[in-house]
Amino acid sequence: MANTFDFSTRAIHHGYDARSAQGALNPPIYMTSTFTFETAEDGGAMFAGEKEGHFYSRISNPTLDHLEQRIANLEGAEAGLCTASGMGAITSTMWSFLAAGDEVIIDKTLYGCTFAFMTHGLPRFGVTVTLVDMTDPANLAAAITAKTKIVYFETPANPNNRLVDIAAVSEIAHRAGAKVVVDNTYATPVLTRPISHGADIVVHSATKFLSGHGDVVAGLVVGSLADITQIRLVGVKDMTGAVMSPLTAMLLLLGIKTLELRMERHCQSALKVAQALEAHPAVLNVSYPGLDSFPQKELARRQMTNFGGMIPFEVKGGKAGGIAMMNRLKLIQRAVSLGDAESLIQHPASMTHATYTPEERATHGIAEGLVRLSVGLEGVGDIIDDLTTALNAHNQFTE
Ligand SMILES: Cc1ncc(COP(=O)(O)O)c(C=O)c1O
Repeated sequence: MANTFDFSTRAIHHGYDARSAQGALNPPIYMTSTFTFETAEDGGAMFAGEKEGHFYSRISNPTLDHLEQRIANLEGAEAGLCTASGMGAITSTMWSFLAAGDEVIIDKTLYGCTFAFMTHGLPRFGVTVTLVDMTDPANLAAAITAKTKIVYFETPANPNNRLVDIAAVSEIAHRAGAKVVVDNTYATPVLTRPISHGADIVVHSATKFLSGHGDVVAGLVVGSLADITQIRLVGVKDMTGAVMSPLTAMLLLLGIKTLELRMERHCQSALKVAQALEAHPAVLNVSYPGLDSFPQKELARRQMTNFGGMIPFEVKGGKAGGIAMMNRLKLIQRAVSLGDAESLIQHPASMTHATYTPEERATHGIAEGLVRLSVGLEGVGDIIDDLTTALNAHNQFTE
């Protein structure tokens, strides 16, 4: 489908023609592990890469194909790949391009399990991992060497919403011969398309906004056909085996149809919630790219079309204050994950970012009292009322 169609039109139609499946509005779910060969020679040719076709669902499957084409189109990439989880997408990508002796440079603020994989996992296999505060691209320029194979970051970063200038970082990385991998889970292709800013590979926890319904754990990767083929045939096929189920692919295809619509509402509500939080006397700080107080607001306006559904904030009373406030909420659910219809709140220091040491959190911009709100699709007045009621009862904390 031509890229002249709107984002939502492509999110609903790209890569599927109902005439190919007896007119079925939704593509069939190919719930099969293996595929039969017309002849043994055909099977051999497929294994040798001389003939196209599906032969085993760890390598490819028609339902996954639809999703791969759709996400590649929406991200403006040549090719896409489905994985069993966001961590499956990240680890399969990294393993595909690294060997002992290589160097990776990561931003200091990453989702906790990504941080654990990078700082504890990769070094066990002889890969050197350097942490850099990429909010200033000059820090990357100072740290990069000829051994750097991959530069990796999230923008906005989980949990504190700090941004990285994709174009500036990509230019520095490419000059040194390194690939740029961006985790676009928070922004989704509705708000930012990292490839158009110069990134090479985009990874997603599709568990989040892409699904939007809290029903699956899933990952996606997009990039050039050559890179995606490498990740498919090395990372996923031989190293992680992190294969997505066809049923999950089907649920994601449904979720992605409403992605743009949902993101509009997430963003609209999050701005109102962030403004209400900032105005409340029990709140110490709010980090939301759409607020005038956001230190990187100029970059946010340049790189994002809107500012997302995630709000990290601190209330009076540090960790005890944050937890007391969370426990008073009635509508907003206490849960990790994000991007669902339900508003979700969690405490990064004891939950998603417990993999950092307290010293690491202190130097990486993850305050012990920080709480992270994923603004859902409920009526925004109800979300604000729930927060305000919890915060109004906060006067025992004076800090
Ligand atoms: C930014 C980001 N990347 C990656 C992941 C990992 O994704 P998954 O839980 O689907 O493995 C998460 C999970 O919370 C995340 O927030």
